Amino acid sequence: MKSDPVIHASRLRRVYTLGESQVVGLAGVDLAIDAGALVVLKGVSGSGKSTLLALIAGLDRPSAGRLVVAGRDLAGASEADLTVFRREVVGMVFQNFNLLPTLSVLENVSLPGLLAGRPRAETLRRADELLAWLGMTARRHHFPAQLSGGEMQRTAIARALINDPPIILADEPTGNLDSGNGAVVVQLLADLNRRWQRTVIIATHSTIADPYATVRILLKDGAIADGSWAD
Ligand SMILES: Nc1ncnc2c1ncn2[C@@H]1O[C@H](COP(=O)(O)OP(=O)(O)O)[C@@H](O)[C@H]1O
Ligand SMILES: [Mg+2]
Repeated sequence: MKSDPVIHASRLRRVYTLGESQVVGLAGVDLAIDAGALVVLKGVSGSGKSTLLALIAGLDRPSAGRLVVAGRDLAGASEADLTVFRREVVGMVFQNFNLLPTLSVLENVSLPGLLAGRPRAETLRRADELLAWLGMTARRHHFPAQLSGGEMQRTAIARALINDPPIILADEPTGNLDSGNGAVVVQLLADLNRRWQRTVIIATHSTIADPYATVRILLKDGAIADGSWAD
């Protein structure tokens, strides 16, 4: 028996209103992603990649259409439902890392666990395990400004994993990294997919994630282009 896709969008639209004018971010996207996929999402700047990831992450709401992620209807969800969804179901990694500058590495990683109401001791233990896996133990009491870009992104990956989400969304995760650190970050995301069966979506301009893709999606003007980026 085939299970339902973990991400299911139909006619998904997001239109931004700026004063009198409207900008189409997503123009009606149909999508079905199975659990355990590693999706590489491409498209030129402005094609809608970040808009799509923000909707799937529950950070933003569709203007129209349906979006069901891990069995939750995000188009109709309440703010309270979305808050829980963001903490439990998705982990997000961004181009600019989005770490809190006044918190240490360990505190940045632990924060979403504490916000989710998990016991402090258990959360700190899990944060330390993740940091060890990422080779960041020696950096656990350092602040983001003391880290290299690669270390900041590894911290952000640990933070994305603290609540053990089934879905990881990475928006240009290598955009601010040199090629060596970019390769490390992509390898980590691929590991999460292969070894722990997380569903991973990587939006990227780079070809570095190409060998790991099980699903290839090309966005063009807010819509899924025919074929894929490899064609
Ligand atoms: N907050 C916003 N307000 C207005 N327009 C936006 C906003 N975010 C994105 N857009 C527009 O939506 C389109 C898709 O943008 P985006 O999803 O950021 O593309 P990508 O991530 O592929 O570069 C672009 O035309 C962009 O200018
Ligand atoms: Mg973007």
